[in-house]
Amino acid sequence: MSSDSTNRPIEHIAIIMDGNGRWAKKRALPRNMGHKKGAEVVKEICKAVEKAGIKYLTLYAFSTENWKRSKEEVSALMDLLRQYLASDLKELQEKGVRIRFIGERQMLDADIVESMNKLEAETLQNQKMTLCIALSYGSRQEIVSAAQKVSELVKRGDIAPKDIDENLFSAMLYTHDMPDPDILIRTSGEQRISNYLLWQLAYTEFFFTETLWPDFSEKELIKIIEDYQKRERRYGAIKA
Ligand code: FPP
Repeated sequence: MSSDSTNRPIEHIAIIMDGNGRWAKKRALPRNMGHKKGAEVVKEICKAVEKAGIKYLTLYAFSTENWKRSKEEVSALMDLLRQYLASDLKELQEKGVRIRFIGERQMLDADIVESMNKLEAETLQNQKMTLCIALSYGSRQEIVSAAQKVSELVKRGDIAPKDIDENLFSAMLYTHDMPDPDILIRTSGEQRISNYLLWQLAYTEFFFTETLWPDFSEKELIKIIEDYQKRERRYGAIKA
């Protein structure tokens, strides 16, 4: 890997969309209204990423930990997702966006999984960009499940333990067909990774903004991209 890769084109942006609840609270609105506004921003940011010529956008829409939220909030989020699958994501599909999902599908309702599978299959050939939505996603679980897949290969005698390397392990992750993120953005002032893409973020540049997700905009995204281009990425190497 090159010792200073900031001049490489940005291939992948990952975002933790946080602060919907606080955005709604500030306006004395129910939390769901924050999620609804947040979903509108998803569409705007997806278009902005495509316009910037960036090929991959991965969004943390629902973590495995989010199942612990109140029944009402989980069910409102799932309804929003249903609507989103039927309208906004369809629109992105028509614009040539490939849509894929990462996470534990068995936790989701069957009709949602069916729509997800359909969208993935129908957009498989779309080249413009890939929108990856992390849904019922937890990175430790993803890593454990990769370890199980590798163990199966060893058990079957397909590979020997010494054949296990980073490339083989990466190939077992949900994200096997995507480059690692160049940029991670977390909104709302929190500075945590929250079990998101732990393996994939090894060399990623992190950007934390105070902006609540429903207030996040194309303008702020462009500013982050410009800041990224000023940073120096050395992947542990010493600059000559
Ligand atoms: C975090 O805000 C956000 C979520 C748990 C859900 C993110 C969902 C969306 C942006 C809308 C749906 C997206 C798609 C792709 C359909 P929070 O509720 O934790 O906010 P808080 O920390 O202020 O309470």
